[in-house]
Amino acid sequence: MNKEHRGRQTKDGIRIYDDADFAGMHAAGKLAATILDEIAEHVFVGQTTGEIDRIIEEKVDAAGAKSATIGYKGYKHASCISVNHVVCHGIPGDKKLKDGDILNIDVTVIVDGWFGDTSRMYVAGKLPRKAERLIEITHDALMRGIDVVAPGNTFGDIGHAIQSYVEGHRMSVVTDFCGHGLGRVFHAPPNVLHYGRPGTGAILEPGMFFTIEPMVNLGRAETKTLADDWTAVTRDKSLSAQFEHSVAVTETGFEIFTLSPAGTFHPTYKT
Ligand code: MF3
Ligand code: CO
Ligand code: CO
Repeated sequence: MNKEHRGRQTKDGIRIYDDADFAGMHAAGKLAATILDEIAEHVFVGQTTGEIDRIIEEKVDAAGAKSATIGYKGYKHASCISVNHVVCHGIPGDKKLKDGDILNIDVTVIVDGWFGDTSRMYVAGKLPRKAERLIEITHDALMRGIDVVAPGNTFGDIGHAIQSYVEGHRMSVVTDFCGHGLGRVFHAPPNVLHYGRPGTGAILEPGMFFTIEPMVNLGRAETKTLADDWTAVTRDKSLSAQFEHSVAVTETGFEIFTLSPAGTFHPTYKT
């Protein structure tokens, strides 16, 4: 992309970054993904989510980076850890993980001013069969959404790819939360919906940076936020899963900034 594009925004307020900006996002995305790789061994029955978060904060510090979530709207932790029927924004705490618990760990780091945001699923102990299916479908829904990222396609195409796949497996896409633009900021336009109609929404252009982070419920899509004003849970108490990548639109398609260096983004669950 040429230099005139520097600092450009689309009419929808979506920032178009230039070629040099990809390197910054790579570094931030790689650190976030590496921390998620390394945290896997700290997830086990009897472990607390607070201890997992403490280790994450230590790793962010050790890398000379900053946590994007500490201090964000008063949030105090380096991660969100969402267990079982928690949809997202679970607050790390003293509760011990039990056998068969599934959890999403979501980490956002700032490296040289660039934001890397990614989350994936983990299990404590033995993975229950129905949770395994939920995790599989959620992961594949994210990847199907990413697969349609290319110049000329629309955000509605992404949402449709995710929603049609999830609903085809008789699960529900959460509509109360969405992905987001990011880059030099944590949350920027557009709202990246995980549902939609083909051909609708803003048109994808090279240099757009955003997350795709579908939340999928085994039961109904409805969520509610607990009294702590953060924790979002399924209204029907059904299990929920989520995967998140930070991606870019390139001239030819997409690039994923938060690929797992260890290749463990989708843990191969052997039960
Ligand atoms: N990382 C989350 C996201 O994917 C945002 C967490 S904000 C927090 O957008 F304050 F809850 F940590
Ligand atoms: Co995000
Ligand atoms: Co996130």
